[in-house]
Amino acid sequence: MLKLIVKNGYLVDPSQNLEGNYDILVENGVIKKIDKNIFAPEAQVIDAKGLVVSPGFVDPHVHLRDPGQTHKEDIESGSKCAVAGGFTTIVCMPNTSPPLDNPSTVHYVLKKSKDIGLCRVLPAGTITKGRKGEELSDFYALKSAGCVAFTDDGSPVMSANVMRRALELCSQLGTLVMNHCEDDTLAYGAVNEGKLSALIGLSERPPEAEEIQVARDCILSLRTGGSLHIQHVSTELSVEIIRYFKEKGAPVSAEVNPHHLLFTEEELLRSGANAKVNPPLRTEKDRKALISALLDGTIDCFATDHAPHAPFEKGLIELSPPGMIGLQTALSCALELYREGVLNLRKVVELMSTNPARLLKLPFGTLKENSPADITIFDPNKEWVLNEETNLSKSKNTPLWGKTLKGKVIYTIKEGKLVYKD
Ligand code: DOR
Ligand code: ZN
Repeated sequence: MLKLIVKNGYLVDPSQNLEGNYDILVENGVIKKIDKNIFAPEAQVIDAKGLVVSPGFVDPHVHLRDPGQTHKEDIESGSKCAVAGGFTTIVCMPNTSPPLDNPSTVHYVLKKSKDIGLCRVLPAGTITKGRKGEELSDFYALKSAGCVAFTDDGSPVMSANVMRRALELCSQLGTLVMNHCEDDTLAYGAVNEGKLSALIGLSERPPEAEEIQVARDCILSLRTGGSLHIQHVSTELSVEIIRYFKEKGAPVSAEVNPHHLLFTEEELLRSGANAKVNPPLRTEKDRKALISALLDGTIDCFATDHAPHAPFEKGLIELSPPGMIGLQTALSCALELYREGVLNLRKVVELMSTNPARLLKLPFGTLKENSPADITIFDPNKEWVLNEETNLSKSKNTPLWGKTLKGKVIYTIKEGKLVYKD
C-alpha cells in the first residue's frame, strides 16, 4: 500500500471548517486521516513545517490551445504550469482549433492529459457548433464524452434565444453554462472605453458591453432555472447586477481573474499589449467593486483565464490578441490581497479551491477523509521571479514577467502522487 504523510503543516480546509496544525495521512491516493501527530513509520514523509497546506486548487477557466495553436501552449506545457501554480484540476476552454464541439476532440484532450498525468484536465464543451453562436452543440454527447460545462468563451453568445435554450437544456442535464459576457456590437475595440482610451487613441470596449449581457443572462437564468456562471466579471455594475439576481434566487455564480483585481487600465501604459485582455482592464472604481464582491460572496471564485499568446503576436495593442498567462502567478496574486489585509487565508483557499469545485459539482477542493488526495502546499512568504528559468508556459505574455512575486507553491500532490516540487 502506498502511504504518504504530510507533516507539521498549517492546514486550511474551508470545506470542513478546519484550520490549524494537522498532519495528513494519504493511502492509495485517498485522504485517510487528518489528525495531530500522525505516526506512520512506513509512509513517505513530506515536511510542511512553516508551510500552508490546502486542498488542491481548481481553475475553472484555462486556455490550453491544444489542439490547433500549440505554438502558444499545449496540454503538456499547460499542465506543467498548472501544477507549478498548485492547480490539481483545471477546466480547459473549447476555443481550440478545431473547437471542443464534438466528442472526438474531447477524447483527444482527455487522453493526452491522462497520459501526461500531471493535473486533471476537464474540458468545457462549446455552447454552439463551431462557436458560431447559431446552432446548439450536442450537449448530451459532449457531457457523455466528459465535458463538465459549456461555454463559447472567447466569444459571447449573442442570441438571447440560443442562450435561453442552452440554459433550459443544461438545467435538465445538471450542467453549468458559462458565458463570456460581452455584446460584440459594442465590444469591438481593444481597451476599456474611458479617459485612457481617449488619451491614447485606441479603439474601445465600453463597460456596458459586458453589463448588458450579464443582465440578460441573469434574467434568463432566473426564468429558466438553468445554472449560469459568469466568466471574468470586470465592472462595478456587473457586480451589482449579479448581486441583485443572486438575492432574487437566480442560480448564478461568477468568477474574477487575478488581473482584474490587481491592475487597472493604466497598466497598458506600462505593459502595452501584454496588458490587453477581454474583457479589458477597467478603472480603480471597478477594481474596488470586484474586491468587495469577493468579500460579500457576490463573486464566488477565482479563475486565471490563462491565455497564452506568442511574443510575435503581442506587438501593437490594437492588433494583438487579448489575454495573459496566469497559472503560475495566480497564488502570488491572491496572496497580495492577503497581505493587504483584504482576504484571510481561509478566503484565499475558498476562492481557489472549495468554491470552484462546488460550482462544478466536483468531488475535489476538500481534504475530507476518503476524498481524492489533491493537496497544495505553499509558502506564503517565499519570493520568486517569473522569468526564462522559472516559466513553464510556451508563452510569456504577462505584465508580471520579471517582477518579484511573493508566495510560492512548494509541493503539489494529485491523488497521492507528487506532481510538482519547487
Ligand atoms: O483575454 C482573453 N483571452 N479573453 C478571452 O475571452 C479569450 C482569451 C483567449 O482565448 O485568448
Ligand atoms: Zn473569455
